[in-house]
Amino acid sequence: MSRPVPFVVRIALAAALAALLALVLLLMPRGTSPPAIAQDPSTDVEAKIDGWLSRMTLEQKLGQLQQLDADFPTGRLRDDQLQLVREGRLGSTLNGRGAVPTNAAQRVALEESSLRIPLLFGFDVIHGYRTVFPVPLGEASSWDPAAAESSAAIAAQEARAAGVHWTFAPMVDIARDPRWGRVVEGAGEDVYLGSVFSAARVRGFQGDDYSRPDRVAATAKHWVGYGAAEAGRDYNTTDISERRLRETYFPPFRAAVDAGVASFMTSFNDLNGTPATANPFVLRDVLRDEWGFDGAVVSDYTAFRELINHGIAADDADAAQLAVNAGTDIEMVSRTLAENGARLVADGRLSEATIDDAVRHVLRLKYRLGLFDRPYVDASREAAVLSDPEHRREARRIAGRSMVLLKNDGGALPLSRKLNKLAVVGPLADSKLDMMGTWIGDGKEDDVVTVREGFEQVLGRRGVRYAQGCDAVCRSSGGFGNAVAAVRSSQAAVVVLGEPWDWSGEASSRSQLDLPGRQLQLLRAIAATGKPYVVVLMNGRPLTLDWAARHAPAILEAWYPGTEAGNAVADVLLGRVNPGGKLPMSFPRNVGQIPLHYDEKPTGRPFDPANKYTSKYLDVDNTPQYPFGFGLSYTRFALSGLTVTPNSIAPDGEVTVTATVRNTGRVAGDEVVQLYVRDRVASVTRPVRSLRGFERVPLAAGQSRQVTFRLDHDDLSLIDNSGREVVEPGAFTVWVSTSSVGGLQGSFTVTG
Ligand code: NOJ
Repeated sequence: MSRPVPFVVRIALAAALAALLALVLLLMPRGTSPPAIAQDPSTDVEAKIDGWLSRMTLEQKLGQLQQLDADFPTGRLRDDQLQLVREGRLGSTLNGRGAVPTNAAQRVALEESSLRIPLLFGFDVIHGYRTVFPVPLGEASSWDPAAAESSAAIAAQEARAAGVHWTFAPMVDIARDPRWGRVVEGAGEDVYLGSVFSAARVRGFQGDDYSRPDRVAATAKHWVGYGAAEAGRDYNTTDISERRLRETYFPPFRAAVDAGVASFMTSFNDLNGTPATANPFVLRDVLRDEWGFDGAVVSDYTAFRELINHGIAADDADAAQLAVNAGTDIEMVSRTLAENGARLVADGRLSEATIDDAVRHVLRLKYRLGLFDRPYVDASREAAVLSDPEHRREARRIAGRSMVLLKNDGGALPLSRKLNKLAVVGPLADSKLDMMGTWIGDGKEDDVVTVREGFEQVLGRRGVRYAQGCDAVCRSSGGFGNAVAAVRSSQAAVVVLGEPWDWSGEASSRSQLDLPGRQLQLLRAIAATGKPYVVVLMNGRPLTLDWAARHAPAILEAWYPGTEAGNAVADVLLGRVNPGGKLPMSFPRNVGQIPLHYDEKPTGRPFDPANKYTSKYLDVDNTPQYPFGFGLSYTRFALSGLTVTPNSIAPDGEVTVTATVRNTGRVAGDEVVQLYVRDRVASVTRPVRSLRGFERVPLAAGQSRQVTFRLDHDDLSLIDNSGREVVEPGAFTVWVSTSSVGGLQGSFTVTG
């Protein structure tokens, strides 16, 4: 039996407890703040951030600006990183993921640290988290922004269910040099197409409200000019006029801002003498002051410290000072700011106001993500979301829409459905990893359906003869005999060629764009059998196809289609899906033509075969092998009835362009109707054509539809020599076409 505690003892105990509490409060670091601040709905976010800033120590502020790389294979934070969290010296991570690991780390931030600001988990969710969709360049080939929005939304749903708050995507760098391996990560060479896909991907990741449990914050990267790396060599320097920045490289970023993108990532490259990570012109003047962007700016991986290699910082302290003063908020992986920030502030090289500004951007992101209200993820949902069969169905659909039929002589495709003995050969025919391409998020090889498996599901195992021929690098022809034998004993062959998955993406520049190693030799050996064959390509950039382009009966550009690769390839080759994709990048004839893009500027000496002294090569045509916007179908389409009204407008007026597209073939299919314009005479030179509209139109056999485009000030304006965006009086040409070449042509005039 317990005895009652005497009254005096109770008083003494209460007093001791109160004293202890007072002592604890006294000893608590200045930055301590009760969660009540975060959750108080009566103060708005900015006031809450003011509250945090007034309580945080400088060290804690610097902590919010530090991002570290968690353990990639497990998604867990390492012990030393958890210790930093405990000390309030780590604000975010990359590669930390998985509901259990992220909740565990979050618990340390909220229960074991005195600061109690939630951690932010970033990850490269580029074209899928668990369900892998086509690589972004492939998806852009769909010319279907709704498809990109849908795949980003699914990726967001999966990522958020796995504890990821923030993706480092979309990559919106305009890319005109296919030697640069990162062309695979964007939407290709065109400013308009790139801007449309930029906005679609931001909307897909973020929705209207990225605090929701099925959305993530997006990042427009890499700001800016990264795609212009000299000689296509990754990380190389760039020198880009302000005109070209504004006309070509900025617009997809601007589209991301207009779509409400949460954050930006700086690029690795030197830009006109000032590396982008320390470039106040792009970070402050343009992004913040002109565009009013109020989100967070994260550096790329170790880009702060790389300012030393660039030769503009003498040491780490210098690097941190330059990057933060220029306007980069978060340092990814290197620790120059965390280690030198206090001294820089003490020495007056960095002001605490500048630090506060950067911390504000980070806390704003955390608030907008709803992390103060819902810091943990519901681990019980993760497995079901990651294995939702609907996600795979959508991946298959989008992969089919992303493929581009480059060649189809004599109706080689679709394959006859009567086939019962098909050879599926080549280095990429059965390679699960290669089907996903670069950046696979948390994708699993085991989930991937290869081309071999896709056909086996249709024809049965005995209907498919598989032989690899060689691996993707294809140094040896030792396996060619088996591949040739498999083809000889079949009715037809599907030859799957291309680049190994890691030959494009970061640090994967090439100086030659031919099929790797001896792949062409393998193809020629198969062609020599005399059996009907078609080529499927999986690659992350335009290739120089040369012999294959001249001799192969059919070529399907499949890019890297992702988890459902094999099913989607079989769908298209068997005609269950009629290919309707179009190239988002020109395919050059040879490397010497690069950079090659359709919206080139005119020259004073346009090519004239009768005149030697005109702009051309002695050894190759000016034209690409396959132009931007090009792609065939199993049916045919005809355009007719172009109208341009009115034919004269004021500079702030609007022109309506219509045309009719008709499916003149025998099967249903999609045509991408494209609208191009040219300003004939202006105060500054204008491209020979610029894309200003497109629509992917599905049509049954024999069906026709009228397509309508509107051109307004934004479509017709240029930046004049005093930096103003104006529509200048004069004549404009318009084309409605099915690629960047030819089409129906009309005109209108802008009056003065
Ligand atoms: C370096 C890459 O350039 C960037 O795109 C990526 O987001 C970061 N690493 C983080 O992985």
